[in-house]
Amino acid sequence: MKKKHRAFLKWAGGKYALSDVINSLLPKGERLIEPFVGAGSVFLNSDYEEYLLNDINQDLVNLYRIVQQTPDKFINDARRFFSIKNNQPESYYQLRKEFNASADPYFRSLVFLYMNRHGYNGLCRYNKSGGYNVPFGKYKRPYFPEAELWHFAEKAQKAVFICDGYRQTFAHAKSGDVIYCDPPYVPLSKTASFTSYAGNGFGLDEQADLANVAEEVTKVSNISVLISNHDTIWTRKIYEHAKKQTSIAVSRTISQKVGKREKVAELLALY
Ligand SMILES: C[S@@+](CC[C@H](N)C(=O)[O-])C[C@H]1O[C@@H](n2cnc3c(N)ncnc32)[C@H](O)[C@@H]1O
Repeated sequence: MKKKHRAFLKWAGGKYALSDVINSLLPKGERLIEPFVGAGSVFLNSDYEEYLLNDINQDLVNLYRIVQQTPDKFINDARRFFSIKNNQPESYYQLRKEFNASADPYFRSLVFLYMNRHGYNGLCRYNKSGGYNVPFGKYKRPYFPEAELWHFAEKAQKAVFICDGYRQTFAHAKSGDVIYCDPPYVPLSKTASFTSYAGNGFGLDEQADLANVAEEVTKVSNISVLISNHDTIWTRKIYEHAKKQTSIAVSRTISQKVGKREKVAELLALY
């Protein structure tokens, strides 16, 4: 039984639970491209020779490059932030303030990881002026993901990390590539939907445009594209030119209190 690997970051919409199903639907190929890599659960549990991994969140991509290039130093420095003293609101808000004032990618990467594990619900959120504004999470003993960081660093030796929009990422694709897209999901209700991971929204226009670029790229070359999203009448419509649509019911936590879960239908459209 192949060991499943968890990402070292908590991430809204993370695909750890679904990574087996997704990998079983992804065609074979040399290189996997992920325009919306997030915490990277599909990357971590797949088996390609090469990876091109993108996200629009600059802090995320900086962190990945640093873990890829200097894992030993980063892991030793990061561990120091996971202390009893730092698991208090005063320390958390002080570090968040220093993070928002800093332009140093290394320091920001250390505090980004710290806030991801000490902040509310593993959320990543920025306000309109780009300031990270997730509140303190009040966890008893935030977990330091050392083994997960080392596994990521090892797997990342096969990867190139870029920070761009999804269309620019598609432009790198060449014949034989496989592209897995996990965009922010379409809202299931007017009130729901967390789409602004990095200050920018991902609206219905972008959703439709992503379906178009998937159609375009697969028409002209031997490239496969798999897109995941909520299973709704609208997503079935925008993905109507996909070769195959697969619907799966997923159990999902709906609040920080353990045990409150619901079933949601997700759609996987293969072009
Ligand atoms: C649902 S999450 C991906 C989760 C990922 N599959 C995982 O397992 O952790 C969507 C990601 O898309 C990124 N994103 C949002 N808008 C984007 C855009 N226009 N171009 C590229 N990435 C974008 C967000 O920063 C977020 O990390």
